[in-house]
Amino acid sequence: MSPTTGSLLSALYTWIDSNDFWRQQQAYLQKMQQQTQQQGPQTDGDYSRVSAVLKSPLIRAMQESPTPPLPHRTAVQELKLGNVLVKPGERIVLGIVSAALQQLEQPVANDAEATRLLFGGNYGEPASQATAHACPGQSMSFGAMLGIISTLFELEGTLRSTGALTLTLNERD
Ligand code: HEM
Repeated sequence: MSPTTGSLLSALYTWIDSNDFWRQQQAYLQKMQQQTQQQGPQTDGDYSRVSAVLKSPLIRAMQESPTPPLPHRTAVQELKLGNVLVKPGERIVLGIVSAALQQLEQPVANDAEATRLLFGGNYGEPASQATAHACPGQSMSFGAMLGIISTLFELEGTLRSTGALTLTLNERD
């Protein structure tokens, strides 16, 4: 399963399982309505408002169940990670799940730090802080996930849980 699909499904699972899905949906619709009142209708293709409203909650949900959970790499040259000397050929396993859960315990939510952990570093925003091997697909996957979730939230009708971790759409009369 690709990390984008896995992350999206995990986030939706977390929300549906805790009933937070409907709270998130109401909060999203309310905030989007406020934005429309203040700034006029959203223009096609501009997802900055969706991102402003939905990206933080999505990052919180991704932290609860990160995908990939345990990426591993083999060192091709000697390097130092903190106080540990890593020799060529040695395997490095990133415990993203426990690190992300630890981050969730922090009192102040920090999207930038959480995103760096979930995507294995900083791909280049700003370029001066880019790290080796960070995921290059970050913006693309946020675009896809936010697009799908906002479309679900904006569907005309009522989304109900079936108990089997799927949703059905009851269309409005
Ligand atoms: C929510 C979706 C995604 C998550 C959470 C994610 C997460 C990650 C993580 C944790 C790494 C490991 C970084 C490391 O080794 O230090 C990685 C690497 C990578 N990802 Fe993603 N990824 C996602 C989507 C994507 C997409 C959509 C693409 C491509 C279209 C992509 C392409 C890559 C590539 C090529 C690497 C290797 C980078 C390197 O070793 O230099 N990823 N990703």
